[in-house]
Amino acid sequence: MKKIGVLTSGGDSPGMNAAIRSVVRTAIYHGLDVAGIYQGYQGLIQGDIEDLKITSVGDIIHRGGTMLRTARCEPFKSEEGFNKGLDMLRMFKLDGLVVIGGDGSFNGAKRLADAGFPTVGIPGTIDNDLAYTDFTLGFDTALTTVVSAIGNIRDTSSSHGTVNIIEVMGRDCGDIALYAGLAGGAEAVIIPEIPNDVDALCRTIIHGKKRGKLHSIILLAEGVGKPYELAEEIKRKTDSDVKVSVIGYLQRGGTPSPSDRILGSRMGAYAVDLLLQGRFGRAVGIKGNQMIDISFDEALDMKKDYNRNIYELARILAI
Ligand code: ADP
Ligand code: F6P
Repeated sequence: MKKIGVLTSGGDSPGMNAAIRSVVRTAIYHGLDVAGIYQGYQGLIQGDIEDLKITSVGDIIHRGGTMLRTARCEPFKSEEGFNKGLDMLRMFKLDGLVVIGGDGSFNGAKRLADAGFPTVGIPGTIDNDLAYTDFTLGFDTALTTVVSAIGNIRDTSSSHGTVNIIEVMGRDCGDIALYAGLAGGAEAVIIPEIPNDVDALCRTIIHGKKRGKLHSIILLAEGVGKPYELAEEIKRKTDSDVKVSVIGYLQRGGTPSPSDRILGSRMGAYAVDLLLQGRFGRAVGIKGNQMIDISFDEALDMKKDYNRNIYELARILAI
């Protein structure tokens, strides 16, 4: 292996830059050349590829987003687009590839590995929706942003005695809502994995009011949807003033937390080690603070479940 490529794909996440920096510098440390592929699989198909040096990744460890930019690229899913990507990898004389992205990006990476191209993956997504790893890169930073927002909203919620619904990201996975709910002392957490019982929620709000609670914070995962309709229903059933805040893209950017910088650095180095050891078609993860790797097949097959202990604890502590 003489030269490897690195790309970021799908939704960006804080810590991707730390991972890119680590891939580039670990590879150079081991005598490899490195190329950066811009805008994920789109840049791969278009040949938007350039060599990266030690200095190319200077001054990025503290920055959110991704210096390589990212894209969602439909054409790469087709046979034609995929083969074009493979041709480009060969044309640019790459012998290995590190893909940093979510489960969608891993599907593309798996196809490359299955086609015989040495590819490994780093789970870069704020959603924490990959079951094989304790945490994905960017989740901790997104959580920090959301918990800070909860604090601000709680201030005004207490002043005015309002009920506040806070919608956070997570299409199929409620982890941001769940963990932020526990960290932010929310009265309720609503996630796609569990059917929502609005009447029980309203009873909790009324009970809280009776015992003198000044605020009610409800964390709602985006996958559940309809925050304004929920607000209307709660308003009707509890006779409260209900406000909605959609955190949106605020939680996808921002300076990465120390944990995400460390995770990105560890995952980047581990990914390069896998390529050097000839262990391809593998996704990097973290389990119990140890770096692990697992085949793309297993990583993509594993069903993510929510953490019942965290959910139960958040519920108990909200009494
Ligand atoms: P994420 O990686 O954050 O989950 P997406 O689901 O949008 O984001 O996937 C990112 C990109 O991965 C897609 O736009 C596409 O380029 C690529 N991709 C997803 N599924 C496949 C597939 N089956 N074959 C090839 N590429 C894929
Ligand atoms: O993949 C992360 C994520 O932030 C999801 O939680 C969200 O639904 C999605 O990306 C939205 O991203 P975009 O608008 O870029 O497609």
